[in-house]
Amino acid sequence: MSDFQFPKDFLWGGAISANQAEGAFREGGRGLSNIDVLPHGVRRLEVKTGNVPHPELQKVEYYPSHEGIDFYHRYKEDIALIAEMGFKVFRTSISWSRLFSNGDEEQPNQAGIDFYRNVFLECKKYGIEPLVTLCHFDAPMGLVEKYGSWRNRKVIDLFLNYADSCFKEFSGLVKYWLTFNEINIILHSPFSGAGIAFQEGENKAQTTYQAAHHILIASALATKLAHEYDPGNQVGCMLAGGSFYPYSCNPEDVWESVKKEQENLFFIDVQVRGAYPSYARKLFRDKEVNLIMEDGDLEILKNTVDFVSFSYYASRCVAADMNDKTANEGNIIRSVKNPYLQTSEWGWSIDPLGLRITMNQLYDRYQKPLFIVENGLGAKDEIEQDGRILDDYRIDYLRSHIQAMKEAMEDGVELMGYTVWSCIDIVSASTGEMSKRYGFVYVDRADDGSGTLHRRKKKSFDWYKKVIESNGNDI
Ligand code: BG6
Repeated sequence: MSDFQFPKDFLWGGAISANQAEGAFREGGRGLSNIDVLPHGVRRLEVKTGNVPHPELQKVEYYPSHEGIDFYHRYKEDIALIAEMGFKVFRTSISWSRLFSNGDEEQPNQAGIDFYRNVFLECKKYGIEPLVTLCHFDAPMGLVEKYGSWRNRKVIDLFLNYADSCFKEFSGLVKYWLTFNEINIILHSPFSGAGIAFQEGENKAQTTYQAAHHILIASALATKLAHEYDPGNQVGCMLAGGSFYPYSCNPEDVWESVKKEQENLFFIDVQVRGAYPSYARKLFRDKEVNLIMEDGDLEILKNTVDFVSFSYYASRCVAADMNDKTANEGNIIRSVKNPYLQTSEWGWSIDPLGLRITMNQLYDRYQKPLFIVENGLGAKDEIEQDGRILDDYRIDYLRSHIQAMKEAMEDGVELMGYTVWSCIDIVSASTGEMSKRYGFVYVDRADDGSGTLHRRKKKSFDWYKKVIESNGNDI
């Protein structure tokens, strides 16, 4: 028996994002964001990849972000629920267009500031630390339309003005910050991940890596600013994590997995080490990318993050020749089905040991504290006749991942905390569905937007409460 104990100050909690939960997309002076133009259903995928620029709202489509789960009006009820579970930390994001409606105003919108201040004060009332992402995939549509979003260097200054307002206005309320959610997702979902819509015939890799360079500069400058405002501020990068396994021990497959790891870790290599990695030169050459930098950029990138946060849902499996293997359809990142693993209803492989592997690899590489800021199971929940929701599958998933996380810590990995995605059911980022539920709290809302939005505790609610109460001893 191991005598491992989680540290006393371990940050147990859960996570949501503004654009998947708040709704109220036109209230309090909020402007439209790229996520607000993502319809529900099949068309979502076309718009998300940036192949079909779709800036105009079409009345015929249903847009799930517009009402979300109405967190905007119900945040007190929701925070009371997470407080009941004993959360130490609550991760959410700030909607950029709630503070800067078009993105390029000089002054922030007071109603937006007030809303977030109230949310953070409500957390503090229960002794919950907010962990706040400045940009969780969303960009004001004003910036998308006027500047082409992050492809334009001007957006760095506009983002910094936004970040500056956040650090100033929420000083003393928020000390844990993440700059950009799943920064590597820009490679796979440029529009929904960063508001990038491609033009006919352009070199997509050039645009994507140039936009990513601007994001990296913005992230480094925001990190510097956060430290200037308050040396106690801790800033993290955020990776869509999950190691790439080689399909076999054929060196060709192993080499493919090495390349995919590099592609995936590329951006956080910069954020953590403060410089482009040595393999960047070849990667850019192969993709015909000619990065345009300004004097001083390399110096700016030296403002590195304090910790490395990541999401973990699944590992990925790759082969030199993917064509003769069964594709793993559920994953946004192209991969093949791992024959050793079961999958969720959405085709995401379930691999708790993969979490231990990922944690060891990230810690070996960066030697900075890690923070698991997303982990969870998207599943369809049924309400029993007596009103209970018996989500044992979710408990099993989380238990096995917490066990793996414990083992990784015994391996020597330093971990600050763990926030389950998502503590309350919210709109799915990839599909726009409500039926892909992750929460400890069920929200009465269907894929078509019907439902009362009533909240109801699931079986996992009491289970996670016990996990936190026992500081991870009773899982
Ligand atoms: C991460 C995102 O990619 O995965 C979240 O940061 C997202 O926003 C989560 O919700 C789960 O993905 P999905 O598509 O099931 O909502």
